[in-house]
Amino acid sequence: MSDKKPIYVTQPLMPDLQDFLPYLEEIWENKILTNGGPFHQQLEQALCDYLGVKHICLFTNGTLALITALQALRITGEVITTPYSFVATAHSLLWNGIKPIFVDIDPLSLNMDPARIEAAITPHTTAIMPVHCYGRPCDVERIEKIADNYGLKVIYDAAHAFGVRHKGSSVLNCGDLSVLSFHATKIFNTFEGGAIVCPDAKTKQRIDHLKNFGFVDEVTVVAPGINGKMSEINAAFGLLQLKGIDAARLQRRAIDGRYRERLAAIAGIDCLPAGEEESANHSYFPILVKEAYGTSRDALFQLLRDENIYARRYFYPLISDFPMYRSMPTAAHSNLPNALQASRQIICLPIYPGLDLDQVDAICAIVERHAQAGLTP
Ligand SMILES: Cc1ncc(COP(=O)(O)O)c(C=O)c1O
Repeated sequence: MSDKKPIYVTQPLMPDLQDFLPYLEEIWENKILTNGGPFHQQLEQALCDYLGVKHICLFTNGTLALITALQALRITGEVITTPYSFVATAHSLLWNGIKPIFVDIDPLSLNMDPARIEAAITPHTTAIMPVHCYGRPCDVERIEKIADNYGLKVIYDAAHAFGVRHKGSSVLNCGDLSVLSFHATKIFNTFEGGAIVCPDAKTKQRIDHLKNFGFVDEVTVVAPGINGKMSEINAAFGLLQLKGIDAARLQRRAIDGRYRERLAAIAGIDCLPAGEEESANHSYFPILVKEAYGTSRDALFQLLRDENIYARRYFYPLISDFPMYRSMPTAAHSNLPNALQASRQIICLPIYPGLDLDQVDAICAIVERHAQAGLTP
């Protein structure tokens, strides 16, 4: 065991506490704690401006936002989704009584493979729920085409995709709805939090009703809504956090670049292809540990732990391997070979603002030291 200070896969971006106090004083002064208060309204506007989207509905967390997004579009029956994600993606379907239909991922992007979607469509299919895994955009054009051809809705789980752009516009504008997470581990956090991005005012209004028990006014309830409202403390923190987000992104970009440089020559360690610099958010730094490396993924994972480096195996196990999913026909390993392989090879290395390049070098040195085949010539 190392006596070095632990390095976790991420560390939340925390503004100066002094800078948060005026926000708290304002809340204490006006005594509005929740229910769409002033900070909630300001954060919705600030996020629309920053992200380049039309409407946003803030939530308590990303999971409730996913569950509500499905309700908002009245999705039922079967939804095509990816097994290579955080469990909340598929759980949101089960919470709505919807059957997840798992399709395999593309081995290069690790996002849902659009070529597999059509074969998974049945008369019960109503929507597709892809994930922009690690904040890397899905093949949104092909997915849109299939959805249009078959009259399906598309709800993106965009929990990783804060600030990501695709072909000059926010990737959050793709599909019918996109869902963000502002969990503490995400690049933009409100301690806990989430949001639905939607294209029109009418849908926003429906979602705003749904996240507030279905209330339209004091005496009118139009739907069996839930309590998904973001509190004023979380919204205020988000406003402050937004001020530091561009600087944080630049630091992440530098770390991403350093990893790529240092790991490039190690046989059997593959970085995912770099996205466009300006469009990416560098929220994760995934590597695939392949056979040529000589040391297994799990052995490397443990060797890093022994040195107090807490990398994570996102996403292992596959969602489809958890007990509530594994008996479903589409959860069969034979249906998901690429996802299975990725889940056995993946390690996400630490990346966060404040991780300095010397620490990145030290992590890379461990990876290099355990390469059995050594460096490529
Ligand atoms: C892909 C994905 N979907 C959904 C969620 C759920 O978001 P939350 O933790 O805000 O409920 C997360 C992360 O936590 C996630 O990584």
